[in-house]
Amino acid sequence: MHKVKTIFECQSCGATSPKWLGKCPDCGAWNSLTEEKQDRIKAIKKDSSSAPQSLATITLESEDRLSTGIEELDRVLGGGIVAGSLILIGGDPGIGKSTLVLQMLSSLFVQNPGLKNHALYVSGEESLKQIRLRANRLNISGQSVSVLSETCMENIFDHIKRMKPSVIVIDSIQTVFTQEIPSAPGSVGQVRECALKLMLFAKGSETPVFLVGHVTKEGAIAGPRVLEHIVDTVLYFEGDRGHAYRILRAVKNRFGSTNEIGVFEMRDGGLAEITNPSELFLSERPLSVSGTTVVSTVEGTRPIMVELQALVSQSTFGVPRRTTIGVDVNRVNLLIAVLEKTVGLHLGGMDVFLNVVGGLRITEPAFDLGIITTIASSFRELPIRQHVFVFGEVGLSGEIRGVSHAEARIREGAKIGFKEAILPFSNLGRLNANIKPEIKLTGVRDIDEAIKAALDI
Ligand code: TYD
Ligand code: MG
Repeated sequence: MHKVKTIFECQSCGATSPKWLGKCPDCGAWNSLTEEKQDRIKAIKKDSSSAPQSLATITLESEDRLSTGIEELDRVLGGGIVAGSLILIGGDPGIGKSTLVLQMLSSLFVQNPGLKNHALYVSGEESLKQIRLRANRLNISGQSVSVLSETCMENIFDHIKRMKPSVIVIDSIQTVFTQEIPSAPGSVGQVRECALKLMLFAKGSETPVFLVGHVTKEGAIAGPRVLEHIVDTVLYFEGDRGHAYRILRAVKNRFGSTNEIGVFEMRDGGLAEITNPSELFLSERPLSVSGTTVVSTVEGTRPIMVELQALVSQSTFGVPRRTTIGVDVNRVNLLIAVLEKTVGLHLGGMDVFLNVVGGLRITEPAFDLGIITTIASSFRELPIRQHVFVFGEVGLSGEIRGVSHAEARIREGAKIGFKEAILPFSNLGRLNANIKPEIKLTGVRDIDEAIKAALDI
């Protein structure tokens, strides 16, 4: 007789084990293994049309990217929606995922009036009335969007087969389930199975499918590793609840560059695109005070000017505190050590707080010079000269190293009205000759030179 096999599956990474374990050996999560029944191994459907074909003979149709009508979203997608792609949009609850997809579906049809069939918006979380209420707030008439409140995949596919939508949105992947497996909706097994079904459908029918995914308390989309390798594109919607800015970031994209970002602002009438984020992030910058620097940073291929603030104050505890928002605290500790060692800044007894204004999270090394100059400015209580911005990587012996996209960074600064850039000396020689002559370029070789140039000492 066929025996029903029981396995234990980690709900955070999808690793399996024949026995229950308190700690997942793969991702280290505690108490994340739950029992799942595998009563049969599913036969993967054979596709008779898949014979090997010469790469040279594969032809592409001319318009294989569909513009969403939202420029910032197109940018993150790598220039629009690719036919047959599976796109995951993740983010904290209430960040605006449902708002974004609804706005996208509406503007998609304004941008592409030639689309034959409606879009299908499947919501497992909200009732039809609630969706209509949201559409009213967003001023969306919704003629081309069909909404469905349903969570069973089999029923959803029945509707899909009947209406052949031009785009499908599943909001959210954690609420849908397939009857083929017994585990509860939202479990790794269900999420993977439903995503796989949708992937097969998307590839087979050339229909783009958007999945909305929730982020768990630990900051990962439930079953992240399971989903991330199934889908073509993973977009994360980030932002602080306290701030109105929302940043859409591509962390994986089979059809475009990753680390592109789109910037939005949550307003009363929904998400508004911010086409010039530099101006937004610098709008409330205090002038002529110590402990603030403007850094030209590059996200993907896009330069953005951001303000970095530091507060250095005498510590009242034995161990000084180092708290950062928006930058890696380990990187800051390293740079503090470099400052102590090479320019003799006595930060050993000082608390250091750093904050990237506007809720951005920066990981690129070109931000180092900003961290160094801001800390030095706050420590010495000297403001950085107005109209100066910086960028550059700092090495362990205090040398300033060249960075990529130097020209783009300088152009962005000049566009916003800055008069001087402090940059790695090695970048100076490689710059294109036609870079704006009205901006002064100060090349620096080590952090001592950089601090002197920035603080005018
Ligand atoms: P929502 O799209 O429901 O978030 P998610 O689907 O990611 O859980 O976003 C809801 C939040 O957005 C809610 O806190 C209210 C806010 N909001 C606005 O500020 N303006 C608007 O026009 C809408 C529709 C929502
Ligand atoms: Mg939602």
